[in-house]
Amino acid sequence: MKTYFVTGGAGFIGSNFIHYMINKYNDIKIINFDKLTYAGNLENLKGVDKNPNYIFIQGDICNKDDVQKVFSEYEIDYVVHFAAESHVDRSIKEPEVFVKTNVLGTVNLLNVAKSFWETSEGFKAGKKFLHVSTDEVYGSLGETGYFTETTPLDPHSPYSSSKTGSDLMVKAYFDTYKMPVNITRCSNNYGPFQFPEKLIPLLINNCINHKELPVYGDGMNIRDWLFVEDHCKAIDMVINGGRLGEVYNIGGHNERTNIHIVKTVISYINENVDSSVTESLIKYVEDRKGHDRRYGIDPTKIKEELGWYPETTFEIGIKKTIKWYLDNQTWMKNVTSGDYQNYYTKMYGNK
Ligand SMILES: NC(=O)c1ccc[n+]([C@@H]2O[C@H](COP(=O)([O-])OP(=O)(O)OC[C@H]3O[C@@H](n4cnc5c(N)ncnc54)[C@H](O)[C@@H]3O)[C@@H](O)[C@H]2O)c1
Repeated sequence: MKTYFVTGGAGFIGSNFIHYMINKYNDIKIINFDKLTYAGNLENLKGVDKNPNYIFIQGDICNKDDVQKVFSEYEIDYVVHFAAESHVDRSIKEPEVFVKTNVLGTVNLLNVAKSFWETSEGFKAGKKFLHVSTDEVYGSLGETGYFTETTPLDPHSPYSSSKTGSDLMVKAYFDTYKMPVNITRCSNNYGPFQFPEKLIPLLINNCINHKELPVYGDGMNIRDWLFVEDHCKAIDMVINGGRLGEVYNIGGHNERTNIHIVKTVISYINENVDSSVTESLIKYVEDRKGHDRRYGIDPTKIKEELGWYPETTFEIGIKKTIKWYLDNQTWMKNVTSGDYQNYYTKMYGNK
């Protein structure tokens, strides 16, 4: 029975990953290690939390004692490292916490895992540290071309720069100590359990509440969208089959402009829920500082080496996603209570 140490498993992608793995395998143990920041929510784990193969431990990846305690208590086989500060807008306002969590927290995890996994004959067999990263480390594309694993790293925001710093430290542990690692770099995810400061759940929440829909700049920035379950499937495949020390890009060639996403959400809600929700809610706001224009992933390597392919098209995934948020309005109310309103007003005003 393999034991997975999943950091950040109460966040958006981490919680989807835990659901995916617990549904797929009955011979694994999952330890969800999460600090429960504003972005972490144990409600996301409803259903798996009663599974005897699932354990939740509240802890901070920056705290050596917290992490060591788990490694002392359990024989950890895989670290799947999602925990991070993940919101670009917050990173522009408060870069320090991104460096602390994303860079120093990752180094702390690497050190503890190394100290438990390394022997005088090298690393114990069957161990792996999988670092979940982002396409944002590559910077911004022009109108053509795609990010491959060898595209030079050229991050622009404090968020993407801190992720790049952590990627390079993971690489250093492979190059220097031969620690068994992989890095995955995925494009923008969408799906259930995403905190509504991110574009798609924010739009849905605002539509339901007849609030303005803030759109940065001219709305023509392009993101490459992947349904979160396809990301989870890719991570599972990289853990089990990824060549040690390698980077794998993950993306499904679903490039859409932000304004296309906004209009898609409006039209679904207009047709299915509330015909008073129209494009008149759109409000163009001052562009994000240093806003990357276009991201686009070339997933050839993971397709050819591991046979991964995305199963959910954007057209199906976006409908499933909007429907999930509409069906889970109590979840939405719970996560947007308290501090969220202050955050929202600070970012976009109160309309
Ligand atoms: N969301 C995307 O579209 C996307 C795309 C590619 C890569 N990623 C990467 O995937 C990972 C997960 O992203 P997400 O969108 O699920 O993020 P999220 O913000 O929804 O979740 C982050 C989780 O990490 C936890 N956390 C934060 N600081 C911690 C600490 N010090 N110790 C322990 N736990 C801590 C939070 O409580 C939360 O549960 C991140 O590393 C992110 O960079 C995200």
